[in-house]
Amino acid sequence: MKIAIPKERRAQERRVAATPDTVKKLVALGAQVSVEAGAGEASRFSDEAFTNAGATVVSDLSTLLGDADLVLKVQRPLLASDAEGLDELGAMKQGALLIGTLSPFASPEALQAYADAGITALTMEFVPRITRAQTMDVLSSQSNLAGYRAVLDAAYEYERIMPMMMTAAGTLAPARVMVLGAGVAGLQAIATAKRLGAIVSATDVRPAAKEQVESLGATFVMVESDESAAAETAGGYAREMSEDYQRRQAELVADTLKKQDIAICTALIPGRKAPTLITDEMAHSMKPGSVIVDLAVEQGGNCTLSKPGEVVDVNGVRIVGHLNVPSRLATDASALYAKNLLSFISPLINAENGTLQIDWDDEIVAATTLTRDGQVVHSAFQNN
Ligand code: NAI
Repeated sequence: MKIAIPKERRAQERRVAATPDTVKKLVALGAQVSVEAGAGEASRFSDEAFTNAGATVVSDLSTLLGDADLVLKVQRPLLASDAEGLDELGAMKQGALLIGTLSPFASPEALQAYADAGITALTMEFVPRITRAQTMDVLSSQSNLAGYRAVLDAAYEYERIMPMMMTAAGTLAPARVMVLGAGVAGLQAIATAKRLGAIVSATDVRPAAKEQVESLGATFVMVESDESAAAETAGGYAREMSEDYQRRQAELVADTLKKQDIAICTALIPGRKAPTLITDEMAHSMKPGSVIVDLAVEQGGNCTLSKPGEVVDVNGVRIVGHLNVPSRLATDASALYAKNLLSFISPLINAENGTLQIDWDDEIVAATTLTRDGQVVHSAFQNN
């Protein structure tokens, strides 16, 4: 079986889908691994390190993709219609398997293109959150790093310090940080802000978050109701809340936020626009010099003032909307992502002869398969 790892070409993407470490393990499973020249450069993995791990470094993208049975990507492949002017999908051979974070909700039209090209596409965001799949959970591995980086990005923009500092010249007060959304990214943001010495509070709609937030030493605030008691889906995600709940939550957030120096927004609802949690008015209520980091900016944002890819200053409040935050920690993000992929792929390979042998009825495979045999097969996209 031939596995190809192309260089990621989408804007803001510095990660790579394999590292020398995972290449070594894929080779040990019997695969022939080819890596595009320079694929690991932006995440600090050299061609030489890939070669030493047993990969062949290939300069020509068409040759690399045209030869592969399995293509490993971070982001979805470029289509002829994309502005970059390259057709990665078109260069792949019919029948090849494509695995990556293909963002199917953000680009459902690409699914038909995969099906028409005869590509079997599996998307890593759909890996179910079951115990067996924990090592494959790319959303967790990447959100964890994003939560950490969000706090550092806030600290960078904040013109004061995070911890309380008693000096001969006077005492500096600790920063007050509020984390909105206490899932994987939010919990890591809380831990990071605590380590920097901030006073941290957090909110979520899932009551289960309370204990986790408090165990990190932060204060938990939330609107409790019958609705919030049922806010968590069987998959562990949040539901979209009613207008009445949103109004009550807005009052609570408005009240808490005006006493904060930094807000870290991480709230998401799978497959939907991110909930609005900080309105223009609430942002205006913060002191000049305050910072809001909106990790949800790519899903429409938790803050109405955040702009994708920009740091905007509104009356002295800086609103940070960096895109692709995991990619800002490209080396570690690639290392964890590549490990997730390795865990996902290993059960798909027959260890005796090194070929792909996929059980399409397996719970993890079934949940992640978007296209197969020239059809869009995932139930979430049957009507597209
Ligand atoms: P996510 O990225 O979809 O959302 C982030 C957070 O925003 C969630 O905690 C969500 O409840 C919260 N949120 C959504 N709407 C909100 C609103 N209107 N106001 C405030 N907060 C809002 O979720 P994430 O971080 O991927 O994880 C969700 C849950 O799944 C967590 O409980 C996590 O511990 C759990 N999990 C379980 C795993 C497993 O069992 N294998 C693996 C990873 C996470």
